[in-house]
Formats: sequence, structure tokens, C-alpha cells
Amino acid sequence: MRTIVLFAMSLWPALGASAADADVERRIGELVARMTLQEKLGQMSQSTSLRTPLSDAIKAEIRAGRWGSFLNAGDARDRAEAQRIATEESRLKIPLIFGRDVIHGYQTVFPIPLGQAATWDPDLVRQAAREAAREAAADRITWTFAPMIDIARDPRWGRIAESLGEDPYLASQLGAAMIRGFQGDSLAAPDSLAACAKHYAGYGAAEGGRDYNSAWLPEILLRDVYLRPFQAASQAGVATFMTAFNTLNAVPATADSFLLRNILRGEWKYEGMVVSDYEAVTNLIAHGYALDAREAARKAIRAGVEMEMVSTSFYDHAAELLRAGQITMQDIDGSVRDILRLKFRLGLFDPRPVPPPPDPQRTLAVAEKTAEESAVLLRNEGRLLPLSKSIRKIAVIGPLADSPVDQMGTWSMDGRADFVRTPLAALREMLGAGRVIYAPGLINSRDRSRAGFDRAVSAARQADAAVLFLGEEAILSGEARSRAFLNLPGAQEALVDAVAAAGKPIAAVILAGRPLTFHDAAAKIPAILYCFHPGTMGGPAIARLLFGDASPSGKLPVTFPRTVGQVPIYYAHLNTGRPPLAGDLGVPMGNPANPQGYRSKYIDVDYTPEYPFGFGLSYTSFRYSPPELSAKTLAAGGRLTITAQVANTGPRASDEIVQLYTSGPLGGSVARPVRELKGFRRVHLEPGAAVQVKFTITTEDLAYYNPKMQLAAEPGPYRA
Ligand code: GLC
Repeated sequence: MRTIVLFAMSLWPALGASAADADVERRIGELVARMTLQEKLGQMSQSTSLRTPLSDAIKAEIRAGRWGSFLNAGDARDRAEAQRIATEESRLKIPLIFGRDVIHGYQTVFPIPLGQAATWDPDLVRQAAREAAREAAADRITWTFAPMIDIARDPRWGRIAESLGEDPYLASQLGAAMIRGFQGDSLAAPDSLAACAKHYAGYGAAEGGRDYNSAWLPEILLRDVYLRPFQAASQAGVATFMTAFNTLNAVPATADSFLLRNILRGEWKYEGMVVSDYEAVTNLIAHGYALDAREAARKAIRAGVEMEMVSTSFYDHAAELLRAGQITMQDIDGSVRDILRLKFRLGLFDPRPVPPPPDPQRTLAVAEKTAEESAVLLRNEGRLLPLSKSIRKIAVIGPLADSPVDQMGTWSMDGRADFVRTPLAALREMLGAGRVIYAPGLINSRDRSRAGFDRAVSAARQADAAVLFLGEEAILSGEARSRAFLNLPGAQEALVDAVAAAGKPIAAVILAGRPLTFHDAAAKIPAILYCFHPGTMGGPAIARLLFGDASPSGKLPVTFPRTVGQVPIYYAHLNTGRPPLAGDLGVPMGNPANPQGYRSKYIDVDYTPEYPFGFGLSYTSFRYSPPELSAKTLAAGGRLTITAQVANTGPRASDEIVQLYTSGPLGGSVARPVRELKGFRRVHLEPGAAVQVKFTITTEDLAYYNPKMQLAAEPGPYRA
């Protein structure tokens, strides 16, 4: 660590907005002038009711301009027919926009976003989004409800799977990369999708990790942590935002003008379109924030929601709200303009050529590389891994070794199970079926029966090593899948005990949608590879990693607790006034004459995480030189470089993700986290090779919010 003394003044986030093309604005103006109120409210309405074959009723509604958008409905043919009716048979020929949850792939599925975050590889994440956009656009999808950039620090929350982890810098970098991937160089390109920054905001702070629950965030934490990825998304040009289901400090995010007008429009000068989440507008009634749908519509429209997803309060009540003067035509026209502008930017008003079919080989190659880089090696005692390809036999145990749907993880509704290559299939292909003995041991990850244990133990006994596939089924992960316990579900821990008793070397591959707790099981398993639901090509990636054709390089994007009782636990915490002493892991309480423990720790578990943020082993080893600073002081608006040499001191080539953390200042206007991620770089090193890695730090990089909500890098000593 090195100390930087900083003399800095306050800085404001860069503002930036590009005005839409003047011609488009003219065309929008002409259209709005011709639209009836019902046609305007139709544009502000999104439906799921597109079914094969299109009903006469929905055709008539499209013809009448009842809907501006459909989501998660129909197939490509339905969308083509609906679009034909809208652009040929409706009065104003306004095209529809088709939205869908293309979260981490379309038919080819990439690792869940939490797994993509473990790659710490923005360009690869961009490539994955680009491939997903190509596949979805070929199916006439033009809008994806991704990236999900909610900061997630609670593994009980099922949607941590969709997140890019706990850190605002990492989530900002990767969220912006996804946006670039989805939106391509131009939204009007036939293989581009409009992206959607969601869920704005604070959803990941749901109390108790229980989905949809209340979020309480002091503004300083909201701005310093939870809003940063959204501001980065706005700066990256994300076409749309989606409002969140939760209340933020007792105000539902879907009716929060502080979020939607003060910050999004006022401070960030955002010019895109804002859609609600699914029935989140009429959820205001259940929140107790609206008496009825009419009031829900009023509050959401006045706050800045522009398109209503699925519920119909805007269409049903806006006219009477206008008549009562409770909303204005400016509210309506502003929303319609933003919706039309999105459609113009997507080129939907002009004949949009059908995109070229994606290249399946390229898509699968990106899927495999992403799965490979997303795997995190947590343990490798005695260098058990990589296994030797000359091994006589291996036992593959666990239902997740051969479960295509589970391997794809949550939000893979379009994922093609027939595309999936499972670990079992890949291992059989690599070693020959005769050298692989498979015994699921359990029916699925929740199975509590031990009826399959004997076969599993027998398989281990016949083999030279056993590879245990543990973790969670996909159904245990994602939206409305919060878990109060984080242990391996079902009888998996008992399965570990039974297989370990066979006395053969054991490696485990854990497929999950969140950090799990497996402290006792880990003590019986010398090597553990953690793969957040790795997607279509998880099998070949895992086989290559297990047998050394690739070296694990993933790093944890989220902290792993020892027990759920530690949650929330994250690395960028404050030091407290009574931090535990190094090595003071709690539990011993001294004696009555000399009690100890008046420090911030637990008396029944080690306060440190099981595996920390940024952690991940490799098949080689690296040595870092002490970082060198280009200067000891940093003036306001200045910059300095931090350089270190990284050497591969081990036997194998591998990637390493060099991470830069800073802390400070000491003595500022607020206590600051013990460290914060400020940079990272992936380097590839052959055995014996070394490389110099240089980071540039500016006062803007060090800026944080002070109690007056000013974004400032206050003077004082910082450490890198
Ligand atoms: C869901 C999710 C949101 C998704 C939307 C459309 O409830 O909260 O992330 O994009 O509805 O499926």
C-alpha cells in the first residue's frame, strides 16, 4: 500500500447529452400534433397479450393504436404481423417496439450476469451482449430489459444472480459494456437492441434480502454506491430506464420524482425513455401509496414514468386526470415524444432491414470463453487441479452435472436446452465415455433422499478421482427466489460426506446463482471451482478448466459469507471505531479478569468472509512488486500514476486480474470505506514472464459524497 496526499476541490459529475437529430424532432412534433389523446395514451402502454395466432381483438387494438409496445409475448411471426398492422393499417402508422428479457443471452445463453461479473472482462461482456443482440434482433426483438445494474450485497436476494455484484465501480464498468454490446454502434443498425438500465433504484437493498421488500438508503449511500452504475449507464447512452418495484425510503421508486426528475433528468440530463416495471404502477395501491388505479396513474405520471408495463392505469385514467387538471398535456406529450424518439432512433419508422443471421459458431465461442473466464477457483489444496488426462477413470457425481436447464440459470426463457453442452457430455467427449462413471446421487439439488448415494459412492470407489457437481437448480435463483438460508440445498452436504468417505481425491464444481455457504463441505473437498450458472457452453468450459486446457482466472464480484448470519457483508465497509485486531477472529472471550472482544466481531464465528470480493486462485502463482506512485501529492484536478510489476512465478500460463484499490482520506468530512476498487486490468502471462501494469488516478476517481451531497475528493491522506 502507498499513501497519496491529496489537495483537491469538489468536482461535479460530467454532464453530457446529445440532442436528437433535428429532423427527427420535427417528425415527432408533427406526429404529436396529429395524435388523439387515446393514441398518445396507447403509446404509453405496453402489453404482454400477443399470442400465436394473433386474435382479431388484438389486431383491432393494434389498428386502433391501443398499444405502443409488447413485451415477452408471441414469436417472430406474431411480431412481424403485429408490426405490419401497426405500420400499414393504423391511422398514423406508428411502429411498435418489442421488448424482452434478453438478460444474459437469447437462444445461446451466457453465464448469468453475476458470472459475467466474475470475468472482470468488460470487452468480453460487451461481446456476449453483442451476440445476444444479434440473436434476439433476428427474431424481431428491438428492446432488451438489461443490464440489471442493481448493486447486490445480500446473497439471500435471488436477483443477485442478475446483478453485476456488490461493487459500484465494477458494476459501472460492466454495465456500460453490456449497453455498448446490446446497442452496438448505432441503435438503428438492424442487429441492435435498445438497452434498459434497471431497476432504478435501490432494489438490491431490499430489507432481509426478501424480494420486492422495502429499501432504506441514506442519500449518501444511495449516491455513493447504488446510483453510480445508473449514472454510468446514463453516460453510456442507455436508451431506456426501468423503475423498481421497491419503496426507497418509504417512497415507491415507480412514483419517486426525486429519483426520476431531480436526479435522472435534472442532474444527469438523461434524455431517454422511462418504463415502469411489470404492473409496478398499480402496485402503488398495495404499497398503500395510491388509493386506486387513478391515483397510481397520477402519481407515476407526475413522477416521470412514461410507459406503463402491463397494468393499464395510464390508458384508463389519464383522460379524467387531465380534465381534473391533476396531470398536464405536457406530461403526456413529453412521454410520447420520448417514446417516439426511441422508435425513431431504432429506425423503426423507416424500413428496418432484417438483420443478418448470427454466426452460431462465433456465438458459441464467445459463450464458452465467457463461461471459462467466469469460473472462480476457490480452493486447490495440494494442487489437485488440474487433473491429468491420463487418469484411468473419474466419477462424475451430482444432478447438476447433466442438467441443461439448470446450467442456463435464471432468466433464460428463450434459452435453447438442445444447444447446451453439459459438463458430463463434455467430460465424456474429452476422456471417452468409458473413463467417466456418472452417478447423480440425487434427483435434483433440492432432493433430500439418500436413495442414490450408494451408486454415487460406488462410482467414486471405482474411479481415481471424483468430481462432485453441487449447487442450486435454476429455479432457486432469480426473481422472487429469495432464500433465508444459503447452504447447499437438499441432501447435498450428506452426499459430500458419503462420497468423501470413499477416500478418493475429490474436486467440486458448484453451479449456483448466488454465493452459497458450504464451510463444512469445503473442508472435505480439496479443490472447488465456483461457476455461477455458466450457460450453454458451461460444460466444455468446465471440462477444459478441470483438465488444464485452461487456467481459472475468475475473481469474485461479491463477498462470500461464512454463514447467512453475517449478511450483509461486503468488502467496502467502514472501519468502525472498534475494528477487530488482525487475527482477532472472535470466539475466545478471554477470562473474567481479562475479558476481550470489545470489538466489532462475532463471538460465535470468524467475522471475516469465507471468500472475499476480488478473490480467485489460478493454476499458477503471481508476484507483485510494491506499487510505485508517480507523485506523493495530488492537487485538485490532478492525476498520478500507480505502477506495479506482475510476474508469473508458477508453472503455467494464465490470466491475472490486477486490481487497484484506494482508501481515504483519513480525517475527511465522513468516514470512508476501508478500501474501494478504482481500477482493474486483465493481463496474460506465460510462466516466468512479467509485465508492468500502470493505473492513472485522478481526483475525480477519488471523489465521494460528503454530508452536503457534494461530490468531492476532500484533501487528506489517501492510500493505494
Ligand atoms: C419483471 C422484472 C423485470 C423484467 C420485467 C419484464 O417482473 O422485475 O426485471 O424486465 O418484469 O419481464
